[in-house]
Amino acid sequence: MKLAVIEGDGIGREVIPAAVEVLGAFGLELEKVPLELGYARWERTGTAMSEEDLDTIKSCDAVLFGAVTTVPDPSYKSVLLTIRKELDLYANVRPVKPLPGVTGVTGRNDFDFIIVRENTEGLYSGIEEIGPDLSWTKRVVTRKGSKRIAEYACQLAKKRSDKLTIVHKSNVLKSDKLFLDVCRQTADAYGVEYNDMLVDSMAYSLMMHPEKYDVVVTTNLFGDILSDMCAALVGSLGLVPSANIGKKYAFFEPVHGSAPDIAGKGVSNPLAAILCVKMLLEWMEKPESRLIDDAIADALKKKVITPDLGGKASTSEVGCAVAKYIRENCIV
Ligand code: IPM
Ligand code: MG
Repeated sequence: MKLAVIEGDGIGREVIPAAVEVLGAFGLELEKVPLELGYARWERTGTAMSEEDLDTIKSCDAVLFGAVTTVPDPSYKSVLLTIRKELDLYANVRPVKPLPGVTGVTGRNDFDFIIVRENTEGLYSGIEEIGPDLSWTKRVVTRKGSKRIAEYACQLAKKRSDKLTIVHKSNVLKSDKLFLDVCRQTADAYGVEYNDMLVDSMAYSLMMHPEKYDVVVTTNLFGDILSDMCAALVGSLGLVPSANIGKKYAFFEPVHGSAPDIAGKGVSNPLAAILCVKMLLEWMEKPESRLIDDAIADALKKKVITPDLGGKASTSEVGCAVAKYIRENCIV
C-alpha cells in the first residue's frame, strides 16, 4: 500500500503531520510518498501541480491531503478539482457525527448521518463561458454518473440502517429529474427504503431534525453547500473529514481549508485530519480504525483540545495524545 501525503498550504502543514503521527501509531506496513503541492509550490515554480506529480499520485493507492490555498490567478486550475477528475473520484463521502461532549449550533448530539456527494459532474462540469454580459456554466447530469453515486449510497445504506434520502431540485432544475429517477431505481433494486427532498427544504430539515437522516445522496454543488452547513451541527468545520472515493483510488481530506489566518500558530484542530485517517483505515478494511474514536474520546475527556474547542493544547499535542492512546491500546 502506497500513500501519497500532501500537506499543501496553511494549516494543512500542521494537521497532516499530526494525522501522520496517528497513522504511524498503528504500525502498519505503508509506504508514504510526500509531495509538495499548492500555493507555496506555485510561488516557487510557477505551477501548483505538475503532470509528473499527477503521475506520482496515480502510482499510489491513496492520498492523505491537508489543504491548498486557492491561487489568486485567473489561469489557476484547482489542484483539488484536477485530482478528483484525473483519479475519477466520483463519491465524496462526508460523515456528520458529533464527537462526545461537543455540540454545535443546535446544541444536540442525537444524530449520525453521511452525505454522499456526486463529485465529478453537475455544476462542477468545468464547461462554462465567461463574458462581460453573459456567463454560464453547464450543469451536467448523466445516467452513468447518477447510477454509480446512487449505488455507492445504497451500498452504504445497506451497511447502516437501510435508509436513503435523495436530495435534488427537480421542480426547477429539470436535469435533476434524471438524477432523482436513477437514484429511485437504484434504491428499489437494492431494496433500500428511501425518500426524496428538495434541497432547500432539506437544508431547513437538517437544522431542525438532523436525527431523521442516515445516508443522504445528492448532486455536486448541493453536497458542497450542505456539508459546510452540517459542519455547524457538529460544532466546527475543524471536525469534519471527507473521503473522495473512486473505483481504484481514494483521497482523504479534512473539509476545512488552509485557514491562512491561523496558520503557523500551532492552534489548528487536527481532529478532522485524524478522522480522515480513520476513513483511510476503513477504506483499507482495517477494523482497528475504531480505535481512533476511542482515542479522540479520551483526548476530549482529558481536555487535550485546541482553542476552538475551548482548550489550550496545540495541534501537535492533540496529535501526540491520540497517537499515544493508540500505541497503548492497539493489539493488532
Ligand atoms: C470542498 C471544497 C471544494 C469544492 C473547493 C475548494 C474546490 O469547497 O471540498 O467542499 O468546492 O468541492
Ligand atoms: Mg466545500
